[in-house]
Amino acid sequence: MTTTRAEPSVHFDTARAEVYDDQFAALQSVKDCLHLLLEGYFASLPADARILVAGAGTGAEVRYLAARFPGWHFTLVDPSAPMLAVARRHAEAEGFAGRCTFHADYVSATPVELHDAATSLLVSHFLMSAEGRQAYFADIAARVKPGGRLFNADLCTDDDAPSFSGVMGLWMELLGLAGLTEEGRANYLSSYGREFAGHGPEAVANMIEAAGFTPPAPVFQAALIRGWTAERR
Ligand SMILES: C[S@@+](CC[C@H](N)C(=O)[O-])C[C@H]1O[C@@H](n2cnc3c(N)ncnc32)[C@H](O)[C@@H]1O
Repeated sequence: MTTTRAEPSVHFDTARAEVYDDQFAALQSVKDCLHLLLEGYFASLPADARILVAGAGTGAEVRYLAARFPGWHFTLVDPSAPMLAVARRHAEAEGFAGRCTFHADYVSATPVELHDAATSLLVSHFLMSAEGRQAYFADIAARVKPGGRLFNADLCTDDDAPSFSGVMGLWMELLGLAGLTEEGRANYLSSYGREFAGHGPEAVANMIEAAGFTPPAPVFQAALIRGWTAERR
């Protein structure tokens, strides 16, 4: 089964890659919190751990972890070559490129080497078919050792719950703070559930588990962003 879609290289083209790091700077504290949780969850991994970074983009999570765990090696995977090129630039400037392997491709196309842990931050919500999303998690699972750890975060909420308008309303306010115009927010809302974030929290957790992980622990929520931890069975 393939997880491929043509979109990532289109959505995350060179122009987008060059502004990505600054685009949501106003929401950086939310990402800081995700990174802090990631650090805590991975803190007991071996000093020479190998970390699979699925959908690494410009490498924000790698930059955070590489600075704190100087013996770790990172496998950065992303189908958008321009995003990964920015990640490589950061790694070179910050002196940890020698601890990185870069794959401008889908996880399914990378060597099946076992890692101590994997991250997938703000990636799987782009996979709109349940089959493709399930396969994406399975592709990650195939590259994590038994007992290894997964930290996954996505744009995800329960569209049918009475809480939906509260969650989405706050998320729209945050996007406004990040500089998205009223028109931009309207476009975002019309794309939501059609172009991204097609599955609710229960469905996502079930997919992670079905891929070969323990039942995911819901460890994070900031408006529309949810985070889970799970171990490879
Ligand atoms: C919103 S960015 C997140 C980047 C980074 N993880 C972060 O937290 O800043 C999403 C990234 O996922 C990548 N992506 C989209 N579909 C993917 C797929 N099927 N497999 C792996 N990466 C994918 C995109 O190319 C993009 O770089």
